[in-house]
Amino acid sequence: MTVKDLQGCVVFLDSGAGGLPYLNAYNTLNPDRMVLYIADKKNFPYGEKTKNELVTILIRLTERIQKFFSPALIVLACNTASVSALSELRQRFPATDFVGTVPAVKPALIYSVKKNIAVIGTERTLADDYITRIAEEAAGGGAITRIAAGELVDFVEYRLEYSGKAERITLVKKYTDEARKRGADALALGCTHFLFLLDEFREAAEPYIRVFDSINGVCGRIESVLSKKKPPSPITRRAGQPNPLLVTGGKALDAAEQWDLRAERFNLESFKPDGWDDR
Ligand code: DGL
Repeated sequence: MTVKDLQGCVVFLDSGAGGLPYLNAYNTLNPDRMVLYIADKKNFPYGEKTKNELVTILIRLTERIQKFFSPALIVLACNTASVSALSELRQRFPATDFVGTVPAVKPALIYSVKKNIAVIGTERTLADDYITRIAEEAAGGGAITRIAAGELVDFVEYRLEYSGKAERITLVKKYTDEARKRGADALALGCTHFLFLLDEFREAAEPYIRVFDSINGVCGRIESVLSKKKPPSPITRRAGQPNPLLVTGGKALDAAEQWDLRAERFNLESFKPDGWDDR
């Protein structure tokens, strides 16, 4: 694969593996779309950065993505990046289409009988004005309680593949129990990494709490943006062709094996263009 082959592709971007379940869902619905997956491991975890740091990181990364791939669309498959930098990126790159990822707060609030929902995400996401704003907007319709779970991001990134189901349920149950203690009957997953633990969240939370994710919303939004674009439409891939995977900063030694497993599971092929500079 060369940079030339990827001109006009769709880019999915996260700090690590979090966007992969979104990529998977998207490609299941749209198997002919070529998607470049970028894991910005150089700057992982995003959840521990300040808003200003993330804006700087994501502007630089977008400049590089533009220069190398002229993408049809950039999907921020990361809640932390979306709430922190999406509006700045749209201002800075007015000719580029972006799709962000935010917690499915609205369907959770509509579902909630107690009108009390929990949002679980990184510290950065939960501290952002975006969440404060939607919590205020929702005030008439219900309460939003915030539960930070940065430890789950590290778990998914580094330990998931070596863990057993019982360990994963115990880990997740801490958070679903906390949501229940705070009176919530709906839980919105506000971090893309947590989609790797969706079954465990459901198992630990139900029947008292219903779990909501944003995968369908994001996939729908991507297609709606792409369908309105004039040609050139995004480049396509042959049936079964792997999507390219670009990991910034090189594969961290402690995670290299996990990236190999993920490449196999999600049908990805490592790719780093000549002249790409991770800074
Ligand atoms: N996957 C990212 C999100 O959706 C967070 C991971 C990180 O902290 O880097 O928020």
